[in-house]
Parts: sequence; structure tokens; C-alpha cells
Amino acid sequence: MDLADLTTLRLGGPAKAVLDATTEAELIDVVRITDEAADPLLLVAGGSNLVVADEGFNGTVVRVLTRGITVDADACSGAMVTIAAGEPWDGVVSRAVDEGWVGVEALSGIPGSTGATPIQNVGAYGQEVSQTIASVRAYDRFDRAVRTFAAADCGFTYRSSRFKREPQRHVVLSVSFQLALGDLSEPIAYAELARSLGVEIGRRAPARDVREAVLELRRAKGMVLDEADHDTWSAGSFFTNPVLTASEAASLPDGAPQFAQPDGTVKTSAAWLIDRAGFAKGYGTGNATLSTKHALALTNRGGATTQELLALAREIRDGVRDTYGVTLVNEPVLVGCEL
Ligand code: EPU
Repeated sequence: MDLADLTTLRLGGPAKAVLDATTEAELIDVVRITDEAADPLLLVAGGSNLVVADEGFNGTVVRVLTRGITVDADACSGAMVTIAAGEPWDGVVSRAVDEGWVGVEALSGIPGSTGATPIQNVGAYGQEVSQTIASVRAYDRFDRAVRTFAAADCGFTYRSSRFKREPQRHVVLSVSFQLALGDLSEPIAYAELARSLGVEIGRRAPARDVREAVLELRRAKGMVLDEADHDTWSAGSFFTNPVLTASEAASLPDGAPQFAQPDGTVKTSAAWLIDRAGFAKGYGTGNATLSTKHALALTNRGGATTQELLALAREIRDGVRDTYGVTLVNEPVLVGCEL
């Protein structure tokens, strides 16, 4: 099987072997056996954050297909919801809104699996999973043991965690979220979302309305998977938003978005820099181009190769660095290839 069949970019050559893990015990077993054989291992769930080389993967691919949601809810402490790694994330958000579990409604429409969310501390429209994760259970491939990490031990930062910083070590098995109960969302923290809901920043809105508004915003940016729309044949944002020191931020061009962070650093917008450096939406001529709906998504228009996509990524990274002195860093995981 080609990895192209397992990734939202629809890129990547063949794998030596593809195995399915439908239960947690199977997942641990297959990882342990692969490790004992010293065979390279690639875990794939939603495939929405992976860029795989055209040559493919010379090792074992394990598809994480575990399912299950358990709930422990009471009126005082809210709902503790424990979700198997393979559960598709948007199904979880949809259920949360239906059940009146609050805290993930702004994370609607994000592709991929629940087990992937703590790895890069998935975030959008003012929420990050680190705000609601209580703990993460993972298989530690180094110690060959199952461990539970309290949220405080997960090392969450913007788009990162201890799991991302030590990439080959942990296999997420399940994630527990502590969610408030109610029909109103958490306070709205993203200006664009507040505008589309017609509320002020910091106010709440019905969680169902927040979900709908986020889905609409994401669709307009080509960030909701749609087989028929090549703008969504992507890995979402290809670069993280640069986090700069205050003095680096002082040399940003006029008008560049600047978001002061609690630690004194300043986050700016990769999309804005890309756009102003001469790479507007739709940029590119071959089979790999920027999305026509968002400058931060690199897309496969059909028939692209990973090589073409990476050539575009390098052109953009180098162009932004030459124009603004900021080096963009890729967000998706690169397998068997580099920028
Ligand atoms: N912009 C442009 N040109 C474009 C698109 C955007 O100049 O083509 C500028 C606009 O000024 C806009 C700013 O970029 O105000 C920011 O754009 P947007 O609100 O779409 O957010 P983003 O910073 O590009 C981040 C996340 C997204 C998340 C959105 C909403 C990262 C790397 N990306 O994008 O997450 O959905 O905010 O919260 O942090 C992902 O990680 O894959 C992802 C899609």
C-alpha cells in the first residue's frame, strides 16, 4: 500500500508492511514486536500532518484504529472524557457539543485523530487541547511500559509537547479531557471568530453556534477535508507561526500581525509573511501550489510528488527568509525527507 492512500496530502510511496491495530493491546503488541525486530516504525492515524517521501517508508506502518469513549460526568466537577487514540477528532467535538461538554468547541473541523492532538498541542480559534487535557496515557517504547502523564508533565507549548520533542518515544494510547458542563462555550478568544459570531472577545456564545461558525471559517480557508476540493489536499498549516524575541519582532515590517506572549516573546503570522513576500494564495504552477484559499497551506492539485511539494516549501521558506529575515519551520512531520 502507498502512504499516499493514508495521508490527506495524498503523497508518499509504498510501505514495506501496513498493519492495523484496532485495540490498545494490539497496538502495544505490534509496536513492541516491531521494536524488537529493530524495524523502523511509522504510526499513522488521520494522516493529516504527514509528508512522506516519494520513495515511501522502508519499515512497518501501523494504522491506529482504536476506538472508544468513556465518560465520567457529574454536575459538580464536569465531565472526564477518556478517548481512544484512534477516534477521529471531529467526531469527539461534535459529540461534546451534543452532550453539553464545554472546552473543545472551537477545535471543530480539524482533521486527524484524538491521539495526535496532544503531540502537537492542536489549537485553533483561541483554544488549544492543553487547556482541557487532564492526562495522556502512552506506551513508552524506551522503557517498554505504559505511563500516564498528567497535563503538567506533558510539556505543552505552542504546537509542541514532550511527545513531539522526543518523536520516537511515545505511542499515545488514550487522552482524558476534563470538560465543563453547559451549553455555552468557553469565552471567545479569537477576534475573527468573535466577529463572525457577533460577540465581543471574552464573551460566551452557544457552543453549537461556535462549532458552526468555526466550521464555516475553516471551510472558507480550505481547512475542512473535502475530497472534491484540492485546496483541502494539504497538511493544514505547513509552517508554524514564528515566535520571535521582542527585538526580532521590532524589525518586522509595518502591519505584520504581532501577538505578545506571556513570556515576552511575540508571535507573528506565517501566512501574512508568505503572502507579503510574493507568495499569494494559489501561488505555483505545477501540481503542488499554495491553496487558493489560504497562503499557509501547501496543496496537491492531483498528481503531485513529494519532491514537488518540498521544492515549493523551500522556495517559500527561502523567499520569506530573504525578504524578512525570519526562517519558517515546518509544522507537519516529514518522513524520509527534509526541507
Ligand atoms: N493571512 C494572509 N494571507 C492568507 C491567509 C492569512 O495574509 O492567505 C494573514 C491574515 O492577516 C490573517 C493572519 O494571516 O489575519 C492569520 O490567519 P488565520 O487566522 O487563518 O490563522 P493562521 O495563523 O494562518 C492558525 C493555525 C491554524 C488555525 C488558525 C485559526 C498555526 C500554524 N496555524 O493559522 O491551524 O486553524 O490559526 O486559529 O498556528 C494547522 O495547524 O494546521 C491549522 C490550520
